[in-house]
Formats: sequence, C-alpha cells, structure tokens
Amino acid sequence: MKRARRLEGIEISLIRQINALATPFSTNLGIGEPNIEPDATLREFARRAATTASWHYTPNAGSMALRKLLAAGTPFDPKSEVCVTAGTQEGLYAIVQAFLDPGDEVLVPNPGFVSYATLARIAGAAVVTYDIEPPEWRLDADAVLSKITPRTKLIVVNSPSNPLGAVIEEATLQAIANAGPLVVADEIYREIWYDAPPPTMRGMSDNVIVVDGMSKSHSMTGLRLGWVMAREALIAPIITAHQYIATCASAFSQSLAESILADRAWNAEWLERVRAQFREQREAALYAIEHGLEAKITPPAGAFYAFVPVPTCDTLYMAKALATDAAVLVIPGIAFGALGEGFMRISFAAGAEEIGTGIERMGRWLRDSERGRPRPHPPDVSSGG
Ligand SMILES: Cc1ncc(COP(=O)(O)O)c(C=O)c1O
Repeated sequence: MKRARRLEGIEISLIRQINALATPFSTNLGIGEPNIEPDATLREFARRAATTASWHYTPNAGSMALRKLLAAGTPFDPKSEVCVTAGTQEGLYAIVQAFLDPGDEVLVPNPGFVSYATLARIAGAAVVTYDIEPPEWRLDADAVLSKITPRTKLIVVNSPSNPLGAVIEEATLQAIANAGPLVVADEIYREIWYDAPPPTMRGMSDNVIVVDGMSKSHSMTGLRLGWVMAREALIAPIITAHQYIATCASAFSQSLAESILADRAWNAEWLERVRAQFREQREAALYAIEHGLEAKITPPAGAFYAFVPVPTCDTLYMAKALATDAAVLVIPGIAFGALGEGFMRISFAAGAEEIGTGIERMGRWLRDSERGRPRPHPPDVSSGG
C-alpha cells in the first residue's frame, strides 16, 4: 500500500531509532524525559483525579478551571486565549495544521528539535533553517531576521533549547516577536533552568503563540498534557484543528494538572526540587565530559541536555556503534539538523553514576577506535526528521 504523499520520506525520528537499540545492559543517556518519580503529594493528586474527577469530555479548549490556572499571571484570557492539548506535540501539530499551506515557508532552528521541520513538511510547507553557532549556541536575531521572505508564515523558537540547552536573550526574542510573521515559542523547558529563569515570549507581541506543557517540569511525559496560548484570533483556528485531532486533552490529566497548579506552595517547592536534582546531574555530566571525553562545553543554561563535540564526521554511525558495542545510548547531532553533525546530545536526565558510566564508555570507545578499530563511514543520511 502506497503511503500518502504527505508522509513520503518521513520516518520515525532518529531519537526513537537509537532508543530502540537499548538492551537491559545499556546506559541510557539518549532519553528526553526527566528521571524524577512523583512524590507522595503528586501521587495523591493523581489518586484524587482518578477517583473524584469527571471522566467525560471537557470543552475542546480544556476545562475552564485549568485554563484559569494556566492563564493566571499571563496576558491571556482563559475564556478565549488558551487551549489545553494532548501534550506540547499535539499543540505544535494543531498550530501547523491551523496556519500552514503548501508554498508557505517556516523558519526552524538548526540545530533544533526534530519535530518542527517534520510537522511543517507534513503540512506541505517549505522548511528554511536558521543557524545557531557553536560553541556558545547564542542565537543572533539577524540569523533569523535575514531569512524572512514574503512567504515566511511562521518562525519557530525554542528556549531553553532541545538539544542545545541554550537560552535565548530577551532582546533577541523581542526582535523576533516584532519581525512580522507568526512566532511559535516552544517553552516546554521554561521551568528547567540553572542560574536564572529564562525570558518568556508570553505577551511580547500579538503574533506570538506560546506552547508549553507538564511533560518535563512534572515528569508527566506519558500523561500527555500541554497547552497553547495566543490572542483570540490566533487560538480560534488552533482550537478547531485540535478538535479534529484530539477532541480534548485527557480529562484525568487535566484534573491532575489543576490540582498541581492550585497548590501553589507545593508546586513551587516541587519545581525547586526538580531544578536542584538537575543541577547536580548537570555538574556530574560536565565533570565526566571534561575528564572522560576531554571536551569543555559552555554549561547549558536550561533543559537537561549537553551538546558535546566528538571527533567524527558521522555521528549516526558512532551513536549506533556506541549502542551496540559500548552499551551506551546517546543521540547523534545530525538528528537535529546539518549543523548538529560532529556533536552528540547527551541527556543528563539520569543518575550521577549512570552519567559517569555512560560517558566513560563513550570515552573508552573513542580511544579504542583511534587504536585501529573500524572508523566511521561517510554519512549516508542527512536528517532524522
Ligand atoms: C523542544 C520540545 N518540544 C516539544 C516536545 C514534546 O513534548 P510533549 O511531551 O509535551 O509532547 C519535546 C519533547 O521532547 C521537546 O523536547
């Protein structure tokens, strides 16, 4: 059976392909989800949601009680400017379906999260990348603004970034917000920061559509709870698309999110604990990278990824060999775009011991391969989609 043209050339992402090579002996530093278990309060919130909350459909845009909590302290009206989605990923899909036509151009970061370009291609739009340069991965507003053409419909911005861990400066975000095209600000890592909270694009201009969710901040990846906020004129078509994708987000997950946000003291304390754990794991990762891989990187300012230079021009080969020969999973930089080649994404959403073991295995594999073991072939794929 021939697949639909919109899916031609689109495969399961390289992240999933590498994670599929895991065995019980693997050390997994490829994972994009927090290694944090729910505490007693979070479990109690979940029990309450399972036993007392409604299991019926909620309004398409989400329960009013949750929308009010999400909009508190933002410039958005909970009645008409918030849509709760089945994870941030569904929010991104709904946005793309709501606004993109064949012939439109979408600006996406390079290196950047794998979904943006793929979602744009599924909608028939043309993908144009803007570059973020090593070693600091500091985004220059001109790198984005210089790529805008009359066909640019949408600019995607992700801060803190997956895979870079970099945070975009406020002035740069403001320049992008005022540039003209619609802007999608993916702020899913907003709560995971190290020295200072990252600037948000919420309210920067009427063109900005903010997506966020609880997968990373509350270790709720499997519960599929995200949201989109934008001015009413922009959110209305997004809610229409969302109705035909998901009807509404899970009522259980919405009720759980409501309890989390309503208990402000517990939530603030939870987020502090999450950041404290990731701070320790970031230190363990930076130490192991410096001593095991002899690489020094700019410490990531947010999220839980280190994007580390490696001495190969074929990181896909290296990531597969590391998975099968050295029992360590890391994601090849090429999965995040052409500028990612020569880097590996190491997730430090793992215990300090695992981080040390995994990076030590990478270092040993690299040293062994220099002593005459098979060298990488030239690249035969360009992107993970
Ligand atoms: C930058 C970024 N955006 C969106 C998502 C999707 O998250 P969700 O679980 O909310 O769909 C991820 C997940 O890895 C991500 O890294």
